[in-house]
Amino acid sequence: VVLVVDFGAQYAQLIARRVREARVYSEIVPSTMPVAEMLAKNPRAIILSGGPSSVYAEGAPSLDRSLFEAGVPVFGMCYGFQLMATTLGGTVDDNGAREYGRTPLAVSKAGSTLFEGTPTEQSVWMSHGDACSAAPEGFTVTASTDVVPVAAFENDEKKLYGVQYHPEVMHSTYGQQVLEHFLYRGAGIEPTWTTTNVVEEQIALIREQVGDKRAICGLSGGVDSAVAAALVQKAIGSQLTCVYVDHGLMRKGETEQVEKDFVAATGAKLKVVDAEKRFLDALAGVSDPEQKRKIIGREFIRVFEQAQLEILQEDGPEVAFLVQGTLYPDVVESGGGTGTANIKSHHNVGGLPDDIEFQLVEPLRQLFKDEVRMVGQELGLPEEIVQRQPFPGPGLGIRIVGDVTKERLDLLREADAIAREELTAAGLDRDIWQCPVVLLADVRSVGVQGDGRTYGHPIVLRPVSSEDAMTADWSRLPYETLAKISTRITNEVADVNRVVLDVTSKPPGTIEWE
Ligand code: XMP
Repeated sequence: VVLVVDFGAQYAQLIARRVREARVYSEIVPSTMPVAEMLAKNPRAIILSGGPSSVYAEGAPSLDRSLFEAGVPVFGMCYGFQLMATTLGGTVDDNGAREYGRTPLAVSKAGSTLFEGTPTEQSVWMSHGDACSAAPEGFTVTASTDVVPVAAFENDEKKLYGVQYHPEVMHSTYGQQVLEHFLYRGAGIEPTWTTTNVVEEQIALIREQVGDKRAICGLSGGVDSAVAAALVQKAIGSQLTCVYVDHGLMRKGETEQVEKDFVAATGAKLKVVDAEKRFLDALAGVSDPEQKRKIIGREFIRVFEQAQLEILQEDGPEVAFLVQGTLYPDVVESGGGTGTANIKSHHNVGGLPDDIEFQLVEPLRQLFKDEVRMVGQELGLPEEIVQRQPFPGPGLGIRIVGDVTKERLDLLREADAIAREELTAAGLDRDIWQCPVVLLADVRSVGVQGDGRTYGHPIVLRPVSSEDAMTADWSRLPYETLAKISTRITNEVADVNRVVLDVTSKPPGTIEWE
């Protein structure tokens, strides 16, 4: 394993992903972890991430010197670089040499371990206030910029390396190469980690964990639960039952896709619960977004638990496991570490016996989203499932501004299907993060169609680009595609006479309208 020490901000996850792209397994640890504990994990190398602080700021995270003396290769980036410099006796100061964004880097030692085979002039991504003016003793300076004399250094003998910039971001042109040089040349690691290994390893682990007991898994139609279920299915076959709750708020063809494509690809046992009426009854007359979300969440749990109860009553071994599609970012964000092994499943609702405890099976706990997609591919899941864009759990219920009714849902389903069809036809699926289609059910506007006046509802298109949904920008879709979507929706969907485009970034707007 390669450890990525997290000094805050969002850099550590990106670095860990880049290391895995280099086919080396990586894990993130907090900078507060004692060095002895880090070393106890027997890392083949350690990477120190960037961070928001100045090394001299009060309370700035630091590192025990012993980390650099353990014989483990270390690569410091940005904050990690400055920390390495100051800890080992170099000089870092605030000389006013701030650099933010794309910066030209002059490589002074082309044959160095990190920069071998890369040009002497290269563009890198900087983001720092303080700067290193003198490298620690025993280190060679390997690159500089116009304002920073020491922008990279290395001590090949001790296997210690550092760069002031962020090699993990794509704006650093040779960043991935420099990182790979550290891993392969500096630390001597072989690139052998692949998702194929992950699948094999997880299947063995799941078999061992579940034994001859049974497991259940909730399918949402999303990528994560589908891949987790497929993996567990491959490991334990008919000992797994998947439950899919059709709340009637799904998009067109979605339930059929789960029923047919998922089952065809995996052979999993699937229990589809048709709960449309129940959800629509519960949502009747409700237009407040938060209330809709609460109702949908509550009903979902009730229905799911009812299905659980039914499975529990079927003949067979004990149902002891619940499969979840938890991803690595969820694990890291909730404090990393070992996580919960046992949950008590909602004994207060739905009528489950008090004493039922499920153990969790979370086969995707070490993976990032793109890796989950690769695993899904490996397991033979169809593209439509594996490359699916995000879709909110409450479904179309939060894409109708106003009350949710069956008629409105049907109308929105049609409009959404047209938008999706045209975006796919234009080859734009991978360019956009997602494109909510929203019905403004409480708004009407005047239009003219044929010879007559219409008084219909507007449909909003909300195409966005994003990396993680935390921030987003509106997608600049080609006019022809927008025109086609607009024409088709107003022609084909009754009661819609206007299509509008949402051109708000996030912030200030959220991606969904509710
Ligand atoms: P917002 O609207 O907050 O959405 O910018 C960010 C991302 O999260 C999705 N989303 C949800 N996903 N359950 C989910 O599983 C939810 O309740 C939910 N609400 C929003 C949204 O589609 C976007 O990708």
